Amino acid sequence: MGNTVLNNTTAVVTGASSGIGAAVAEALAAEGAAVVLLARRRDRLTQLADAINARDGGRARSYEADVTDADAVRAAIDTAVRDCGGIDVLVNNAGSGTWSPALEAELTDWHAMVDVNLNGVLNVTHAALPHLARAAATHDRGVADLVTISSVAGRRVPRSTSNVYAATKHAVGAFSEALRQELAGQHVRAGLVEPGVVATELTTSGREGAPDATNPTGYGVLQPSDIADAVVFMVTRPRHTAINEILVRPTEQTV
Ligand SMILES: NC(=O)c1ccc[n+]([C@@H]2O[C@H](COP(=O)([O-])OP(=O)(O)OC[C@H]3O[C@@H](n4cnc5c(N)ncnc54)[C@H](OP(=O)(O)O)[C@@H]3O)[C@@H](O)[C@H]2O)c1
Repeated sequence: MGNTVLNNTTAVVTGASSGIGAAVAEALAAEGAAVVLLARRRDRLTQLADAINARDGGRARSYEADVTDADAVRAAIDTAVRDCGGIDVLVNNAGSGTWSPALEAELTDWHAMVDVNLNGVLNVTHAALPHLARAAATHDRGVADLVTISSVAGRRVPRSTSNVYAATKHAVGAFSEALRQELAGQHVRAGLVEPGVVATELTTSGREGAPDATNPTGYGVLQPSDIADAVVFMVTRPRHTAINEILVRPTEQTV
């Protein structure tokens, strides 16, 4: 077993089947958290949970859930709470994106981004928030964490083709800030991590757009573990310290 800062805590990570979410889950497990992995691809979740459970002290469970399905999300969160005894950390990470000029875009692609990146965050947060508040009030750590993976595109519009993707990320930024204000007194820390370009399926598989569309200059990009480092830093601060926002770009990224 490595670090133990998050011993006796449970961390839920959405979109844990690949990329940033998988790296965050591994990093939180390495800090001692029992991790709950949510996503749609069951095989990928099972693979990661098995790998974490095979490590010394590793504890992982996985639940298949589409974050756009509020009932499925609530059922998964309720099951996780029953199985693990509560939720101390929630990482809202599941997301998707398509980047194209508005004049050429499919309306269904716009709605899909709103469904996953905004409504998905709302569905998971609504189901998990009472459990986070309870953990902050009753668990030894005396604090709970709600981290949302936004984007540089949640701070500014990097290019015109970021249109709806940037709109969804700005929206979750506003939501997170409102939660921060409401829940600070209860020691639920709501924070944002805003990555620049990270090498994941979102940017490299072509599933969500060609790599050239997101990284036209060809500079060295971030790895998922770079973002996991930021999340771990946030959720391992002492009770009196809240890291509200971390913007992480590849060194050479200017937009
Ligand atoms: N890569 C970047 O450059 C970058 C930059 C800034 C921000 N981000 C943000 O980082 C987050 C993670 O993305 P990534 O780069 O790691 O890409 P990724 O490897 O494609 O991961 C996306 C994750 O979201 C899950 N997901 C997508 N739709 C879902 C749904 N309807 N229900 C449940 N899970 C769903 C996917 O799992 P399933 O397909 O198995 O459901 C997958 O685990 C996203 O919020 C993204 O906007 C990424």
